[in-house]
Formats: sequence, structure tokens, C-alpha cells
Amino acid sequence: MENKTLNQSRRRFLTTAATVVGGFGAAAATVPFVSNMSPSAKTKAIGAPVEVDISKLEPGGRLIEKWQGKPIWILRRTNEMLQDISSLNDKLSDPQSDNSAQPDYAKNEFRALKEEFLVVIGICTHLGCSPSFVLKEDGESISSDWMGGFFCPCHGSRFDLAGRVFKGVPAPNNLVIPPYKFISDTRLLIGEDTEEVDG
Ligand code: FES
Repeated sequence: MENKTLNQSRRRFLTTAATVVGGFGAAAATVPFVSNMSPSAKTKAIGAPVEVDISKLEPGGRLIEKWQGKPIWILRRTNEMLQDISSLNDKLSDPQSDNSAQPDYAKNEFRALKEEFLVVIGICTHLGCSPSFVLKEDGESISSDWMGGFFCPCHGSRFDLAGRVFKGVPAPNNLVIPPYKFISDTRLLIGEDTEEVDG
């Protein structure tokens, strides 16, 4: 029964992911026409740093941006989400992110400059599918002890709300954290590093 439910869930997420990945493919196909783009579209297409306004991002909400053709997720984590992350270490393959890719300033429990905000590349580290964001309350079909996170429908890899991979799934590493910095309390720059840890 549980398997049947999980399979149904995986099929549903697979449909979503296929749609999303198809969308990125379509976007990539527009790159040759960069000379006809607006300045902000050109910036995204050539992979320059991308500025993101996070002023309207509510706790628990997520923004999706694109940098260097990759989906960038920005999740504003609630206090409950942060507490759940802290309770998961023994279920994870690489809880300290020793074998995963992130800037030095994001090699910490929350994998972030500011623990409230996760900035992560939304591509599965197994074979490159796009995982789905699954809230805690929607996660019963993923696992009975699900605390929210990201689920890859292609082969069932699971990641927590810091992008850390669970044990026993095909993905070998945590999701990748891109370089980024805060240029104000409400604006992020994706794709450019800073040595300064703000906040
Ligand atoms: S591509 Fe994500 S589990 Fe295989």
C-alpha cells in the first residue's frame, strides 16, 4: 500500500519535473538570440550575476530564479524548518557537507550565509533531474517521518531543507550551493562571491 502511494506520488512529481526541465530547455534555446533581448534577459543568458529582490518572500515561501541556465531556488525557512534541519544529521549521507559543493561560507549546518535563507541550485546530484519542493504537511507519501525538503522523482532521491541528501538514495552528494551575497537586507546577488559574512 505504501509502495503504491509512493509510486503515485513519484509519477505526479515526474510529470511536474518533466514540465520544468522542458521549460529550461526552451529557455536555453533562446540564447543565440541574445542580441534581441532586454538588458536583464541578456544578463541572465550570458551567466552574469543575477540580482534578486527577496523583499516579498514570506517565511516558508520559495523563489525560483535562473543563473547560468540553472534553476536557483531561494527558500525562506521558518524557525520550525530550521529546527527540523538540526534534528536530521544521523539520517543524512553528508551532514557536514564535507563531500559536497558549496562556498566556504555555506559549509555549515544550514548551508547558508544567513540561516533563514537557503540559496541552492535545483538540480539533482544523481543524474540532473529537477527535484520538487515538498512541504512537511504534504510529505506523508514520501516518508512517514518526512520534515519537508526536496524529492527527486527520477530515482527517488531525497534532500532536506538545506539541500542535504538522505542516506540510502542514489544521489551521492548534497545539492550544490552557488556563490552569492547579500547586497542589502532585501536583495541578493547570485553568482558573485563575498568574503564578508553578513548577519
Ligand atoms: S536524477 Fe535525481 S534521483 Fe536520479
